[in-house]
Amino acid sequence: MASMSMLTSPIFSRPSPTAGDAIFLRRNNPISSIPCFTYNNGRPFLLPKSSPFTAVISCTAAPKGGRIRPEYIPNRISDPNYVRIFDTTLRDGEQSPGATMTSKEKLDIARQLAKLGVDIIEAGFPAASKDDLEAVKSIAKEVGNAVDENGYVPVICGLARCNKKDIDSSWEAVQYAKRPRIHTFIATSEIHMKYKLKKTKEEVIETARSMVMYARSLGCDDVEFSPEDAGRSEREFLYQILGEVIKAGATTLNIPDTVGYNLPSEFGQLIADIKANTPGIENVIISTHCQNDLGLSTANTLSGAYAGARQLEVTINGIGERAGNASLEEVVMAIKCRGDQILGGLYTGITEQHIVMTSKMVEEYSGLHLQPHKAIVGANAFAHESGIHQDGMLKHKNTYEIISPEDIGLHRSNESGIVLGKLSGRHAFKSRLSELGYDIDGKELDDLFWRFKDVAEKKKVITDEDLMALVSDVVYQTEVVWKLGDVQVTCGTLDLPMATVRLIDADGEEHIACANGTGPVDSSYKAVDLIVKQSATLLEYSLNAVTEGIDAIATTRVLIRGESVRKATHASGETLDRTFSGTGAGMDIVVSSVRAYVNALNKMLSFNTISSTDKKVNTKSSRVST
Ligand code: KIV
Repeated sequence: MASMSMLTSPIFSRPSPTAGDAIFLRRNNPISSIPCFTYNNGRPFLLPKSSPFTAVISCTAAPKGGRIRPEYIPNRISDPNYVRIFDTTLRDGEQSPGATMTSKEKLDIARQLAKLGVDIIEAGFPAASKDDLEAVKSIAKEVGNAVDENGYVPVICGLARCNKKDIDSSWEAVQYAKRPRIHTFIATSEIHMKYKLKKTKEEVIETARSMVMYARSLGCDDVEFSPEDAGRSEREFLYQILGEVIKAGATTLNIPDTVGYNLPSEFGQLIADIKANTPGIENVIISTHCQNDLGLSTANTLSGAYAGARQLEVTINGIGERAGNASLEEVVMAIKCRGDQILGGLYTGITEQHIVMTSKMVEEYSGLHLQPHKAIVGANAFAHESGIHQDGMLKHKNTYEIISPEDIGLHRSNESGIVLGKLSGRHAFKSRLSELGYDIDGKELDDLFWRFKDVAEKKKVITDEDLMALVSDVVYQTEVVWKLGDVQVTCGTLDLPMATVRLIDADGEEHIACANGTGPVDSSYKAVDLIVKQSATLLEYSLNAVTEGIDAIATTRVLIRGESVRKATHASGETLDRTFSGTGAGMDIVVSSVRAYVNALNKMLSFNTISSTDKKVNTKSSRVST
């Protein structure tokens, strides 16, 4: 074990570090030029006596996450062990079927991603629609300018195909950020070039080269280029096109395994080969973008990092096209747990304690629910069921846990001993919420507290699952265009099911309608339709009891497709119908179902592809009385 006296060795540029300094010792690896050991102030380390080492003292106070984040320079990272985290939840993640998010939801997520400390936020694909452009612009203006006390502010990035129109839209949206980035891409695999692009290799190179130059000519000094389907592209062609875009001014080269086809050793080799053979590669950052079609996205991403990639593209909860993308929480926690021992000392700037809250927010806003056994953030990720495991846990937590839940912002049930019921006060309520990873204040906390009191009147003990259902019902809701007042149903074997629904519009006016249907939920939805007057097709409906017993809270999730013009251009060029998700919770399953449907309609109505005057007509022209 090295002693502290080493830290006062003359090798340092200052005699002794002071509190708050971050200290890095690097043992220089004789095999590769990558330093293979990094140490930070205050933690023990092993350093073989014979190892030559260099030391760097940085006088910047380390942020909460521990080590310092190097100053942002688009094409260079001063610490070779630092890995940038590029979050594409709002772009690739939103491309998941049903994950459409409103501008307000995207802004909330972007704020949360900045709290988490991601280096780059890919805020969207501005050419997809006017709404997408406006959403990216508002993120660039607000989140892209919120510089914290350590000088951190995330880069705000917009995706663009390799054409002037897309690049103009991207620049129009991101230019307001302190650190704007344009990310442009074109396919480079045989199959994509021949069937999709119908372009020769030479034409693809020329398009890529000229569009990177065009992006730079707009004044953007941070340009990322992706050869789409790199995982299936010919190596020599990749070296050639990447070399050309470096000359044209690209600062990051992202290597996508677009169809999740590569195996980890193969993807790592691809990164290593690109690093070894691309002219000018030492002047840019190499990045990974791994889709999850074979369930290998996290493994491939880590393999890419080990081979030299210093930007990793990921999404919260691993959402994304088809089977999704590499998940931020898995990649970041793998680097956190094994970065020193196995990955040559890699580290990120993520504040892991915000992972749970971010995951929950994305789960609610995207409507994409986590499997219970999802690594890191699934409901069972820290549950120990078998007797042997429980026994081990009681003796020593590390017997079956490699990560403490507290490290990602999750506090174990009963740790504080708080049992919530109808007599619980606001303070106990807020404490339990924050132990569960929710950082809720102000009006949201008030609304949630009153809803909690309402449920606690009917239910003796409010469990964590009940609380999470209420948070999702009260806090993670879109702008309220319509609010549920009351719902009354008659149903059973004797009569035709009938529902009466009272909705309240944004101006506080009440609207009532009655309808018959095949059951109580169908009748209620028809009554809602009579009031809202917006045609929507119900694509999915699911109902779950979140706790055991007859007094369980039921949560409902629905997915709807609007029948008017809410379309978007996908990054592939296709035009897609948008779908909208909604959730609701309540002790009555019909009430929970109507809440979910109204929430999905609200999301659809607040989506900016209809003008605000249309919106007004939609809420005002629908008075129906019976
Ligand atoms: O999967 C992919 O290839 C992409 C690129 C646009 C980076 O999403």
